[in-house]
Amino acid sequence: MRTISGKARLAGVIGWPVTHSLSPALHGFWLGQYGIDGAYVPLNVAPAYLKEALALLPKLGFHGINVTVPHKEAAYALCDTKDIHARRIGAVNTILFDDTGRACGSNTDAAGFLENLREQYPALAGLSGRAAVVGAGGAARAVVCALADHGFTDIIVVNRTADRATDIAAAYEGKVRAVAWDAREAALEGAALLVNTTSLGMRGHPPLPLALDALPREALVADIVYTPRFTPLLSQAKTRGNPVADGLGMLLHQARPGFRAWFGREPEISESLRAHMQAAVEGKREDE
Ligand code: ATR
Repeated sequence: MRTISGKARLAGVIGWPVTHSLSPALHGFWLGQYGIDGAYVPLNVAPAYLKEALALLPKLGFHGINVTVPHKEAAYALCDTKDIHARRIGAVNTILFDDTGRACGSNTDAAGFLENLREQYPALAGLSGRAAVVGAGGAARAVVCALADHGFTDIIVVNRTADRATDIAAAYEGKVRAVAWDAREAALEGAALLVNTTSLGMRGHPPLPLALDALPREALVADIVYTPRFTPLLSQAKTRGNPVADGLGMLLHQARPGFRAWFGREPEISESLRAHMQAAVEGKREDE
């Protein structure tokens, strides 16, 4: 068993409930792999205590934390500084406490999303034009930010609640369009990429109701859901011949900047890490 000393560097993930988080398994794997004297712990903090927790954690010696559901937007408002991605997304997922205890917030979800796609689909660089995004929550905001960075010029957002899609579109001046939920299938025509950012297709949730007939067969289909690893959407896409990218890699890639900042080592995404995380995903299922 790995042991830590009194000088161990501390980090963690703050959420409510935090039990769903796979980040402790992920960072714990890297800490063990590199023999780092450090710990990464789950912090189950109710929304009413978030502000207090963020003020107290650096005083307890924490170097930083990841932020997960439902705290990403509230943590954004509480951070002393925010990087460009956090500002564009309006949420933080990674916080570094500086020497004076100030909370420096960043958002690594957009970059993590793109790095995962690039890894699973090296031809991503050649994709441009239209991309379709299903959902308009926090995850969608990160994905739209990533797609705009990548250079897609016609990003369509479809969401059950139209106003949330319209809000995202308004922030991107002409690059992003909100399309009505009822028109979501026709909107897939001509798209080079389709991304599901909703919770539909996740274990315990119904599948995403989306017929793919209008989607070009060469379009890349990505899901940010990774429990199960191959969602009904990805299976449906694969069956009709579309290339697909699953969401587990986004979790791995978004975690790297935090680990580097808190523990001082650039972590790698190896096959043994993937196997470990796949087992952690399966383990969560057994817990349920
Ligand atoms: P996150 O921050 O993880 O993206 P969220 O803000 O709760 O989480 O967003 C969840 C997304 O899944 C939203 O786009 C939501 O649609 P609404 O904005 O209409 O709520 C979508 N979603 C969840 N359940 C859905 C369902 N049964 N049908 C259609 N969309 C659904």
